[in-house]
Amino acid sequence: MTLLTYLRRKLGLTGTKLGCAEGGCGACTVMVSRYQTHTQQLLHYAVNACLAPLCSLHLVAVTTVEGIGSVARKLHPVQERIARAHGSQCGFCTPGIVMSMYALLRNNPTPKMADVEEAFQGNLCRCTGYRPILEGYKTFTVEGGCCGGKGRENGCCMANGNGAEKSSEEDTNEATPLFTATDFAPFDPTQEVIFPPELMSLTKGQRSGSLCFRGDRAVWLQPDSLDEFLRLKWEHPDARVVVGNTEVGIEVKFKNMVYPVILAPAFIPELNTVTHTEDGVVFGAACTLSHMGAVLKEMVKTLPPHQNEVFLAVLEQLRWFAGLQIRNVAAVGGNIMTASPISDLNPVFMAAGCKLTLMDKDGSRVVQMDDSFFTGYRKTTLRPQEVLLSIEIPYSKKNQFVSAFKQSPRREDDISIVTAAMSVTITPGTDVVEDLGLSYGGMAATTVLAKKTASRLLGRRWGEGLLEEACSSLAEEMTLDPSAPGGMVTYRQTLTLSLFYKFYLMVLQKLRAQGVNVAEVGADCLSAAEIYHPETPSSVQIYQAVPEGRSQDDAVGRPMMHLSALKQATGEAVYCDDVPLYENELYLALVTSSKAHANILSIDSSAAEQMPGVVCCVFADDIPGSNATGPIVYDETVIARHQVTCVGHIIGAVVADTQLHAQRAAKAVRIQYEELPAVVTIQEAIAAQSFYQPIRTIQKGDLEVGFKQADHILEGEMHIGGQEHFYLETNVTLAVPRGEDGEMEVFASTQSASKTQSLVAKALGVPANRVVVRVKRMGGGFGGKESRTTVLSTVVAVAANKLKRPVRCMLDRDEDMLITGGRHPFYGKYKVGFLNSGKVVALDVSYYSNTGNSMDLSLSVLERALFHMENSYSVANVRGRGYLCRTNLPSNTAFRGFGGPQGMMVTESWMNDVAQSLGKPSEEVRRLNLYVEGELTPYNQILDQFTLDRCWDECLSRSVYQERRAAVDLYNRQNRWTKRGLAIVPTKFGISFTAVFLNQAGALAHIYTDGSVLLTHGGTEMGQGLHTKMVQVASRVLGIPCSKIHISETSTNTVPNTSPTAASASSDLNGAAVQNACETLMKRLEPYKTKNPKGTWEDWVKAAYFDRVNLSANGFYKTPDLGYDFDSNSGRAFNYFSYGVACSEVEIDCLTGAHRNLSTTIVMDVGHSLNPAIDIGQVEGAFMQGLGLFTLEELHYSPQGVLLTRGPGSYKIPAFGDIPTQLTVSLLRDAPNDKAIFASKAVGEPPLFLAASVFYAIKDAISAARVESGISGPFRLDSPASAERIRNACSDRFTKLCPPAEPGTFRPWSVQV
Ligand SMILES: Cc1cc2nc3c(=O)[nH]c(=O)nc-3n(C[C@H](O)[C@H](O)[C@H](O)COP(=O)(O)OP(=O)(O)OC[C@H]3O[C@@H](n4cnc5c(N)ncnc54)[C@H](O)[C@@H]3O)c2cc1C
Ligand code: FES
Ligand code: FES
Repeated sequence: MTLLTYLRRKLGLTGTKLGCAEGGCGACTVMVSRYQTHTQQLLHYAVNACLAPLCSLHLVAVTTVEGIGSVARKLHPVQERIARAHGSQCGFCTPGIVMSMYALLRNNPTPKMADVEEAFQGNLCRCTGYRPILEGYKTFTVEGGCCGGKGRENGCCMANGNGAEKSSEEDTNEATPLFTATDFAPFDPTQEVIFPPELMSLTKGQRSGSLCFRGDRAVWLQPDSLDEFLRLKWEHPDARVVVGNTEVGIEVKFKNMVYPVILAPAFIPELNTVTHTEDGVVFGAACTLSHMGAVLKEMVKTLPPHQNEVFLAVLEQLRWFAGLQIRNVAAVGGNIMTASPISDLNPVFMAAGCKLTLMDKDGSRVVQMDDSFFTGYRKTTLRPQEVLLSIEIPYSKKNQFVSAFKQSPRREDDISIVTAAMSVTITPGTDVVEDLGLSYGGMAATTVLAKKTASRLLGRRWGEGLLEEACSSLAEEMTLDPSAPGGMVTYRQTLTLSLFYKFYLMVLQKLRAQGVNVAEVGADCLSAAEIYHPETPSSVQIYQAVPEGRSQDDAVGRPMMHLSALKQATGEAVYCDDVPLYENELYLALVTSSKAHANILSIDSSAAEQMPGVVCCVFADDIPGSNATGPIVYDETVIARHQVTCVGHIIGAVVADTQLHAQRAAKAVRIQYEELPAVVTIQEAIAAQSFYQPIRTIQKGDLEVGFKQADHILEGEMHIGGQEHFYLETNVTLAVPRGEDGEMEVFASTQSASKTQSLVAKALGVPANRVVVRVKRMGGGFGGKESRTTVLSTVVAVAANKLKRPVRCMLDRDEDMLITGGRHPFYGKYKVGFLNSGKVVALDVSYYSNTGNSMDLSLSVLERALFHMENSYSVANVRGRGYLCRTNLPSNTAFRGFGGPQGMMVTESWMNDVAQSLGKPSEEVRRLNLYVEGELTPYNQILDQFTLDRCWDECLSRSVYQERRAAVDLYNRQNRWTKRGLAIVPTKFGISFTAVFLNQAGALAHIYTDGSVLLTHGGTEMGQGLHTKMVQVASRVLGIPCSKIHISETSTNTVPNTSPTAASASSDLNGAAVQNACETLMKRLEPYKTKNPKGTWEDWVKAAYFDRVNLSANGFYKTPDLGYDFDSNSGRAFNYFSYGVACSEVEIDCLTGAHRNLSTTIVMDVGHSLNPAIDIGQVEGAFMQGLGLFTLEELHYSPQGVLLTRGPGSYKIPAFGDIPTQLTVSLLRDAPNDKAIFASKAVGEPPLFLAASVFYAIKDAISAARVESGISGPFRLDSPASAERIRNACSDRFTKLCPPAEPGTFRPWSVQV
């Protein structure tokens, strides 16, 4: 059992969250404290509770988020500051982040910002964009306690908003603080909870004793001496050794491995000692990576530099090795013995010739860590009875140079694509190679040495000739099969050369520094040899403060903290899976298809039903009502009966007493399939003409005339990959039968309470009035919980109905990713006609979306893509067509932006092509084509109250665009292997559901006799702060402080027939409904106010009550004048538009494809903001999600339609380190919107697309790199602009040596869907 399961299920401590169960998200972070007897030290460290075996925690104190403070008792400053700094939106990541910070402060009460950033390497947040978290926690750091001193010249952030390094003085002076740090409770490290004295005395007095824990499938043996360990290993040669469990834990959880005997040697002194020898330093195999790092860091401080080369290489690899929580428990021996081909340390150990001491009961032997040590995929020469005792890492010698490299999709906490270490010894006083070790990970089934290349280079001089020979030799030696697992074959091969080139430059520099006569590294190449060091980000937020003199009770327009933020920071906020267990509750696990398209021949659940704890299985026949389901058309099954149409299609479920039992049994259900041909990719669908109907068209003007008028016509295409929502809280439902009249209560994490209600009722065959759906809050939604949640909720309700017992299911992260679909991948094809000036006069564009195996919301998503096909540009003659590709992938669905971002991404691609083909600055061409007030969109909607031009001009000036452009061009002239790029991109986003009937909302407000108000409305809270805004609205209308108003939850029995909380319109719709309800109440109270003008709110309420006035009112709102008709291309599609502009600057490493987000300036029109803190949070969060979409997040599917990326280990969302180094967000001033509540505007989705500025800045940088190779003009760059795509596009002498295999001649590991 893991610590997390124990905390949540046995102790009911639900503050610690489950986000992934694989150590990749940090939601489960707790602090572990241990008294180390041999050093007499008390150690505090953050760990992932999801990977910590409970058995490993003997004599250990565990501190959870509940243990450090609570709203009721007293908040810990770490909890208070993240909340008040607006660093908690949905709050699901917050306890983990709080505990990472807390553990840091326990060890170091005065940290630097760099320490804070390191502490968060293993924590993810999908909502906030990270900036406010760092901002809040800066207040604990030494560098000025706030803005790191950076803002000082313009005033400190504590007094003056948040400072920015290079932002204009104007920005900093305009910035108004979103929080006041001086209000924070002081942090007093002496007040922390002490290590339990009983544990201390138990640990001190403990006679070393071995431990043995027995479970139903495994026995955990914890020997206390080396001898016993060796004896046990002798007796149980198949026993699994476990230290940090960061590898074994994953094998057990995700690879179904069962290890009956586990040996846990973590506390054996010999395995933990560090010994300094003549040749180097010896680490016991159980030394944690954090400990090893700390020791090496100390050593490099004191040793002569030439001895440190290997140590520095190890430290370089450790810098980017997992997150701190993992490094705190993972052992060096565990990394070696896992023998992973992408281990980051093994290449260094191999290149440096480290020695391993292996031992069994009869003695020990020392082996060299070379390629004979690894005998195959995850295999070593270790004999079954042997264990690894220690590793010796040698000092480097004079004239030995060592470097290590790691290239991964994301810098922080990511596994390598290619990892390498290189060591060369040069004959003293010369430039002749005496010894060379080149070691690579990620290029074969094991870590390998490029022996042939190394031997060819022996005796050669370190110069251009050697480089050429090395490259051609490596290209021959480091080959990969085009079908190799992991894909990216050309990229990986190119990396082996590119990394060698970096090493070559580094060594040249060092040799020259020693006075050896080698070629000088040209100034333009210096940046290629630099080691990446992150910079602490700085930021500015600018918004219009409420006019002076406005009542303090009127919260509208003020940066009020999210109402649940404090509870979220203490772990007291209750999410669906935190609802305490019912006494007779059961757990459900899904049985899903492993085939993309197949007939089901048979289902055999007999073995599963015999397994411990299993109560029953649920299949299609158990559905009392209808098995047909779907949010708009019923084209899906609740449970497949005869045929499956995607991998992950639900075939049944197993219900058992615990999650573990249910999940184990679900794996034992046997299904026989008859496979059918599957369509997986958009291109396959186009070839097979596999489309859903209708095919949509929007057309305006005359294309033929337009193209005739054009001076130039160009054609192009682009693919935009899909995106996983990665809400930190996965899908979860608890269904509780009420025992009477078919009543069922469903607790769900859903954006669509009413849709869940109607689909559950349909499946159960009962009227909707028997089903109550309740949503307290979600740990993130982003569209992923708009429709796909019903799939799980319905199955859980069917099981609860069958058994008449409460049934719960929270999907594991891998199941959630597999089953619930995501953002639609899009393929766009365009033909664009334009004048010499750059003015676009004709556009013919076709969009193809990968819809998946059901319609879901895909038609509306596609329509929105079409509605955004011109983004913000006026094009007189235009035709857009949209095709829904029917494929055998899980149904894709709503995702923040709802097709808009994909639609606009293609627009920006042709806009970029136009500028590039004319050789004109892209911002000039964009500006030329921008709409102006009063123009018509292709769907004939007039653009009034148009603010985009203002946003554009403000963004140009705030980003100091022209100076930046000049600086970028200069940089690019001066640097060959790193290039900078700049782009400014606008967005125009239509606000309203395109399905007209959804543009309605209801609210219900009760005033109780004590004056308190209970408010309910149709929207759900998923972190976006909707409830907070609704309370602000009610507070203004009722004229009472927010503290008197409470929102408890969203439920179908208070406000019926609600629209999903989606389309960014929830504040508009529900806000107006709340206003309506509150105004009704105010009308009723009016006579009592008039009668007693000096009275209080409570007086009026009481008077009205005694006068028998109804103090409950409902409110309703529908957006007026909506209704677009595709056939006639008329009618209003949107209520209004939100506008924004962003300018981003990036730097790419042309050799590795890595990039850095240097700066982003966003100007966003949100009307009169209801709550600037929440709105800026939405802008930043959406921007970071877009950044993930366009630069990082890649879903890999096998050609057979199996999703290969099913967790944070393989699917990378942006982390703390991905924030632009400078981030400025400005909310446009004086831009009231008369079409929404209190002149505000929608904000949830519109800013997401602004991250396209980063993509096009990258494209700009790549163009600069291509110019170096003599290539100019438009080129295709698909999204995301991953490191692989960037590297491959920067074609140069190294890429030429690694040509890609001919498409069609091999079966790739993954396909572009
Ligand atoms: C989120 C996450 C991120 C990660 N990031 C990285 C990364 O960036 N780079 C990287 O290289 N790896 C990474 N890993 C892999 C893993 O953390 C490392 O391999 C780690 O060093 C394993 O150590 P451990 O103590 O946790 O191993 P365990 O899981 O306890 O054991 C791993 C294996 O080693 C064997 N073993 C351990 N000690 C001995 C011994 N003394 N004698 C014989 N056999 C032994 C075990 O039997 C087992 O097979 C990551 C893992 C996770 C979960
Ligand atoms: S749940 Fe433990 S790291 Fe994600
Ligand atoms: S607030 Fe971080 S995941 Fe939602």
